[in-house]
Amino acid sequence: MEQKQVEELIKRAQEAREFSYSPYSGYMVGAAVMTTEGDIYTGCNVENAAYGPTNCAERTAIFKAVSEGKLKFSAIAIVGGKRAGAGDYAAPCGVCRQVMMEFCDPDAMQIIVAKNSEEYKLFTLRHLLPEGFGAANLE
Ligand code: THU
Repeated sequence: MEQKQVEELIKRAQEAREFSYSPYSGYMVGAAVMTTEGDIYTGCNVENAAYGPTNCAERTAIFKAVSEGKLKFSAIAIVGGKRAGAGDYAAPCGVCRQVMMEFCDPDAMQIIVAKNSEEYKLFTLRHLLPEGFGAANLE
């Protein structure tokens, strides 16, 4: 994908990270997902006193999009870390990878794990979830 799009997604993920509700872990995560039409949806992690209901930033962003009828994605940027302002590499958890499997072509989906717009790693979903189980298995 284009460098400009990568930078835009990282910037949007950084902005979303500001809203992270993470009083229990102190680990702030922001994500920005791009639909195959080029629209961007953002999300942050939302924690809970009962821990289990916590929602990751990636799923917040994806579910926001799905709840508005967007079902196909081409890229997602993720910025996480303990310190506000400074991002660390935060690769998506297994649950979020499985949710991506539902709505993305694993060979096309670009996962941008970013510290900032200069320091980032690019992976395909296929790389992060090899032999993933998806809708095709149930056909
Ligand atoms: N978290 C995310 O938002 N995304 C990930 O991919 C990894 C973990 C959140 C969940 C929890 O609020 C905090 O980071 C610490 O696990």
